[in-house]
Amino acid sequence: MADGTLSFVHRHQSGRPGSAPLLLLHGTGGDETDLLPLGALVAPGAPLLSPRGQVLEAGMPRFFRRLAEGVFDEDDLRRRVDDLAAFVAEAREAYGLPAPIALGLSNGANVAAALLLARPGVLAGAILLRPMPPFATPPGLAMAGTPVLVLSGAVDPLVPAATALRLAQDLRDAGAVVDHRTLPAGHGLSQADVAAAKAWLDANRSPASA
Ligand code: MLT
Repeated sequence: MADGTLSFVHRHQSGRPGSAPLLLLHGTGGDETDLLPLGALVAPGAPLLSPRGQVLEAGMPRFFRRLAEGVFDEDDLRRRVDDLAAFVAEAREAYGLPAPIALGLSNGANVAAALLLARPGVLAGAILLRPMPPFATPPGLAMAGTPVLVLSGAVDPLVPAATALRLAQDLRDAGAVVDHRTLPAGHGLSQADVAAAKAWLDANRSPASA
């Protein structure tokens, strides 16, 4: 059942106590149910927290407004990032969760990158699937070694290789420990994403949460 009791409509699936939860962030036109199967596949037994983006673009949910394809409304983005950070805090309190690792796809990956850069400390880590830099100029805040996996597509028509490299560098400059890989894929998910995300999570979740 979708849960509308916190500030975002969301799904929560409980998992093993103490296990690092995943914050699932869907792409444009998705909703809170989209990434639940992927989350269960890459982190079996982990608690899953999956909000629905609060912006509607022609009826399609997103996490922040854009002015055009790949051109973001950064004032709106900053506000939405604060809203998402507040939701994470509410959900941690309501469900007794430690800081989550984000698993975001496309627009969800972009808002996760913005959360890392603008609100360091909210996320324990992140897997960014086909992201691009959310800010023209990153906020310049420091992340203390937050682990981040960036998975780009070699033939992604929306995110050129140089754009993906710029985001990886922005995250490194802010102090994240970035593993950036380019897979033989487009903007959509492939089996290689699932395998890479699972292997990275197995290596990066704390021993208590494995
Ligand atoms: C975005 O708007 O976040 C990116 O262009 C990805 C997308 O949602 O198409």
